Amino acid sequence: MTTTETNPTGPANSQAGPALEAVDVTLGYGGEPVFASLHLSVERGRVTTLVGANGSGKSTLLKAFGRLLAPSRGAIKLDGAALATMAARQVARHRAILPQRPLTPPATTVRELVSRGRHPHQAWFRPWTAHDAAAVAAALEATELTALAERDVSTLSGGQIQRAWIALILAQETPLVLLDEPTTFLDLAHQLEVLRLVRRINRQRGATVLMVLHDLSLAARFSDRLIALGGGRVMADGPAWEVLTPDLLKAAFGLDAQVIADPATGTPLVVPASDPAA
Ligand SMILES: Nc1ncnc2c1ncn2[C@@H]1O[C@H](COP(=O)(O)OP(=O)(O)O)[C@@H](O)[C@H]1O
Ligand SMILES: [Mg+2]
Repeated sequence: MTTTETNPTGPANSQAGPALEAVDVTLGYGGEPVFASLHLSVERGRVTTLVGANGSGKSTLLKAFGRLLAPSRGAIKLDGAALATMAARQVARHRAILPQRPLTPPATTVRELVSRGRHPHQAWFRPWTAHDAAAVAAALEATELTALAERDVSTLSGGQIQRAWIALILAQETPLVLLDEPTTFLDLAHQLEVLRLVRRINRQRGATVLMVLHDLSLAARFSDRLIALGGGRVMADGPAWEVLTPDLLKAAFGLDAQVIADPATGTPLVVPASDPAA
């Protein structure tokens, strides 16, 4: 099933091999690992979304792919190269990551926050350029923050702050974008706007996107591929219609639901079963 919002024609970027790969990865926080001997690859030029119950390891896996968390065994590969051995600046030029709960620095305007996305591109011999300024202006415009650019971030609403972080990611202009629940705090109209923006950077720049989303129907609508995590493993992996089955919803979320075609897009819509009579 195809829709106007998925990209069945394939990656715009023709470099061979997966964009990201976990090879025999064991990952966790010191005690019992969250994942053991995990093998997973993320295709270049696609939008891939991790779904799963709370605590299923979505953020843990995203952090490992973004090099915010090192595996205790195995390797994460970025374009076939071991992520662990890459220089910090090289990593920052290649991937942008929005953590689940980013810490907003104090006394920072929206423009200053978004400008941080350009830092990986700077060096002592290459100061701020017209291209840097244009990238920041375009990111502010795309997230409807131009009018708020000189406001201190601490004076914004949760949704506006979330959009400012997304603007920072856009300004970084990386071929790989990692987003952990980018629609948190946003009303439905702004959730759709952010996900359309994600789709646009995927299509127009050929960026590879790996994100975590809670809303399964939105995940289905905006992703080429879903990966369902649970019990320390990949429970299902593929196009939304193959992954979001009633059996998977029961196994991964303990949810009784039917899956119907979204009348607007034809993508799967998860409808929880009716409540028992009171
Ligand atoms: N900083 C941490 N220290 C210790 N355990 C953690 C930490 N972060 C997450 N965990 C644990 O790792 C597991 C996976 O968490 P997480 O990746 O945040 O799940 P999800 O993002 O799917 O909700 C959970 O059992 C959680 O309690
Ligand atoms: Mg999480």
